[in-house]
Order: sequence, then structure tokens, then C-alpha cells
Amino acid sequence: MPFTPAVSDAPEATPQAVLTSDVVEAVASEVRVGLTATAKTLSPWLFYDEEGSRLFEQITELPEYYLTRTERSLFTAHADEIIARASEPSGRDPAPLLTLIELGAGTATKTGILLAAAVRRQRTVVYQPVDVSVTALEAATENIRANIPGVTVRCQVADYTSQPLPLNRLPNTRTLALYIGSSIGNFSPEDARGVLRNLRAQLLPGDRLLLGTDLGPSSLKSVATIEAAYNDRAGVTAAFNRNVLFRLNRELGSDFDPRAFTHLSLWNAAESRIEMHLVSRRAQQVHIPANSAGPALSFNFASCETIHTENSYKFTPARVRQLLASAGFELTHTWQDEQRLFAVNLATAI
Ligand code: AVI
Repeated sequence: MPFTPAVSDAPEATPQAVLTSDVVEAVASEVRVGLTATAKTLSPWLFYDEEGSRLFEQITELPEYYLTRTERSLFTAHADEIIARASEPSGRDPAPLLTLIELGAGTATKTGILLAAAVRRQRTVVYQPVDVSVTALEAATENIRANIPGVTVRCQVADYTSQPLPLNRLPNTRTLALYIGSSIGNFSPEDARGVLRNLRAQLLPGDRLLLGTDLGPSSLKSVATIEAAYNDRAGVTAAFNRNVLFRLNRELGSDFDPRAFTHLSLWNAAESRIEMHLVSRRAQQVHIPANSAGPALSFNFASCETIHTENSYKFTPARVRQLLASAGFELTHTWQDEQRLFAVNLATAI
């Protein structure tokens, strides 16, 4: 499970710093559990230190990584309709005004398109980005304040996966929660349900959720398209994957030789997911010095043994509907691009 920093609920935009020792402790215990398991794993949240976040931003601009640009183009084409549908009157709410909250907001680059549409419709809007990264929230705040007048930003530094979100509900507003970028795809089906249920528990009936999901292979989308997105020619995804080992060396003093591990991405058809692994090029031993999470450890790697570092699930429309229903949401509208690469789904809390 990801680490759980304190929630900051500052009325204005200054995010609070997360204690570094909390992070190091969380990294240390994650590594202990993951690398002592029979099939070695490391949790994908470990990717996102400063360097990993920088590499991820680079991934989103790669020609092979269709997810970000496709979702962005869906927002560009449909932002006004998305906001209009999310603002549809109901018996309880004859003229709802939206407040937007975003889980895992990062630098919120795509969100600006939706915020601008919300401002066009209702003149002003309150936006609450939630993320574990203070740096990302600072960038998001600066960017939105500079470019979209009419938005009030209220940051929350929090781990939305394991902690209830204290929503600052303004009287007579409807919440539109954004969970975009296919971040839901990095959770197992069971954990994905847990994340959405945790969110649902903070919402009122009639609130809305906008969920971005990457789509599985179809007659229009090949497995090769998905595989290329996770194994780009420039090697940025490989560097992103391997960075986790550099991170462990930096933060825990371990002695991984990252060059002795190869990036592998694999389509798993049975689970409808792309998997990322780091494959040990040779038999080797890695050491981690004693730390606050426990005594010194040594790990043996056989030649070709892998560390499973990420799953990225790809959805069918039916699976999206089912996942949402299992968490207390009803899917009401889906926007897809012509090549059926990606879907943006609007749902209502029931
Ligand atoms: C953040 N997440 C949605 C990305 C994905 O596509 O699963 C993470 C990623 N891993 C490799 N490339 C991008």
C-alpha cells in the first residue's frame, strides 16, 4: 500500500510538505515485502520520485504513448458537453453548480480544459486537486492561477487510495470528481473497486465522477499499439522502469546495478493488462542495509528472474460499467475517440 502522509486542508493553495522520513519508511517496508515474496514485486507508486515523475511527464509526450493525447483530445472536443451533462438538473438539485475535485491530480495539465469549460458555464469554480506530490500540486496551482481566471484552487496533499478525503463541500454545489489518465488501470480489479468505494463514501447521491480508462484491444486497436506504448523506441519507459532501482539505491543505500536489469513489457490477455517487469540479466545478489523498517537484507536473483513492477489494466465498456456499479456509481455517458483507443466515462453516485 502507498504511504499515507498527513492530509492538508489549507483553505488556499499552499500545499504542505510531506515528511521525508515517512516516505523513506514506506519505501523500506514496501521493498521488504515485495522483494522477499516468491514472485518478486515492487509497487508502482515507487516509480514517482522526482526523477520518475519527470520521466513520466516525458512518457506522456511520446509518439507511442497514445493515452494522454487521446484523453486530451476527448476533453478538447467534449469539455462543454461533459460539464453540461455533469450539471444536469435533478429533483434535489434544480440548478447545480459544480465543484471539481481531482484524485491524483499531478500537474493537472489536461484538467485545465475542463476547468475552462466549467468557468464558461458557471463563471467561477472551486477546484480541489489531491495528490501525494507537493511539487506537482504547486505546479498545478501556478499553472491554473496564471491561465484560468475564475478558478479557486484548494490543494490537498493526501493519499486518496487509503484515506478518506475531507471534501470541503460548499453549500448547494454538486461535486464532480475527476479520476483521469487511466490511473485506475494501475490497480488490481479489487483495489480499483476499493479506491472508487473510498471516493463514493465521500460523495452524496447525485454527485458525479469522470473516469478515464484505457481500452483493450479491438478490431480497431491492436495489441501491438498497446505494447508499443509501454516499450517506446527512445527507451523512456525503460528508463522510467529502471529508475525504481536507482531510487532504492538513493533512498535506502541498496546496491542494485540497474544496468544488470532489462525492461520488459508483456501483454497479459487473460487479465487484459500490460505488465512491466525488470529482468535480471544474470544471477546476482543485492543488499539493503538495516533501516527503520528492519535489519539488513540480501536478495538473490536467478538469471532471468523478474521483478514485477506494474500492471496497467485495459478495459471494455462493459467492464467499466461493472466496476462503477460495484462501487456505487451508475455510468451515464461515455466518450471515445474514433479508433477506440481511450474512453472518458461520466457516472452518477447512486
Ligand atoms: C500512470 N499510469 C496510468 C501509466 C500507465 O499507462 O499505466 C503509468 C505508465 N507506466 C508506463 N508507462 C506509463
